[in-house]
Amino acid sequence: MKIAFVGKGGSGKTTLSSLFIRHLTARGAPVVAVDADINQHLGAALGLDDAEAAALPAMGAHLPLIKEYVRGSNPRITSAEKMIKTTPPGEGSRLLRLQEDNPVYDACAHPVALDGGDIRLLATGPFTESDLGVACYHSKTGAVELLLNHLVDGREEYLVVDMTAGSDSFASGMFTRFDMTFLVAEPTRKGVSVYRQYKDYARDFGVPLRVVGNKVQSADDVDFLRQEVGDDLLVTFGHSDWVRAMEKGRPLPFAELEEDNSRSLAALYETADASYELRDWERYTRQMVHFHLRNAESWGNAKTGADLAAQVDPSFTLSEDRQEAAAAAPQPA
Ligand SMILES: Nc1ncnc2c1ncn2[C@@H]1O[C@H](COP(=O)(O)OP(=O)(O)OP(=O)(O)O)[C@@H](O)[C@H]1O
Ligand SMILES: [Mg+2]
Repeated sequence: MKIAFVGKGGSGKTTLSSLFIRHLTARGAPVVAVDADINQHLGAALGLDDAEAAALPAMGAHLPLIKEYVRGSNPRITSAEKMIKTTPPGEGSRLLRLQEDNPVYDACAHPVALDGGDIRLLATGPFTESDLGVACYHSKTGAVELLLNHLVDGREEYLVVDMTAGSDSFASGMFTRFDMTFLVAEPTRKGVSVYRQYKDYARDFGVPLRVVGNKVQSADDVDFLRQEVGDDLLVTFGHSDWVRAMEKGRPLPFAELEEDNSRSLAALYETADASYELRDWERYTRQMVHFHLRNAESWGNAKTGADLAAQVDPSFTLSEDRQEAAAAAPQPA
């Protein structure tokens, strides 16, 4: 299951991503956590110290390796240099599974021990001034997009992405890659403004979107959110002393998280799990092709000097049934 947490800066995306990841791990579900936010804080929220967080390998720095690996023997993709972040898989591509060892995880994943088990943490790498506001092919999230488009994940295994609700994810189609998107909103006008923008994009593409209220302090806060987002409001989180203790460097066992916040996490899980029924691999594949063609036309063809529409394998549909094919694919030398 691919789950995204998005929202306004400071709304609590990282905090709620990390709590959800801890909840999944405590339930015994395998998790790959991805920090794709401009502000790279997921590692710290999962308990890494400053030195460990700073030493996380950056996916952006391993883009050539990732491209080379997933390209496999796909004859439509003649070289890694001709791959852009939206290049879709086809016959011969190597697909990725959530629970396996592969060169991408070897290069980019950092194990993190949580109550209940170990997870893999991937990080795009810190964004610098020069990354922001430039053409989208410089995007650090390109590696995450390739990962999402080559992943054949099943039920009861989770990829959780802490992400910015930026124009980047709308241009590349990244916002359509998730079984469920949780939009974190504080009960303020600014807090819900990102929801409106997201909702507009999501509607056109059938993206499942639910709002998670955060830093909710009163019945009036809940009323406000309900008024602004209606039935899209799924649950709310109040101030958490558990989170505050963590921030003070005095982490508590996850079992000691406040009961109402634990219940809200269980509701997120139920909603994420139920979204499995809405899965449609054909639509998923169609949408990645749609965004690839758009990106090819607007900048990809010019950048690579090739007609990237030729990378599309018209008879290919990504699906869980392809797991065996992925497992059988030869490893790179
Ligand atoms: N429910 C909560 N209880 C207590 N503190 C919280 C809660 N939610 C968020 N915070 C605190 O608010 C601050 C911002 O939260 P967080 O970093 O998760 O937001 P964000 O949306 O990821 O921000 P950014 O856009 O900067 O990445 C942090 O200090 C976090 O610990
Ligand atoms: Mg954050």
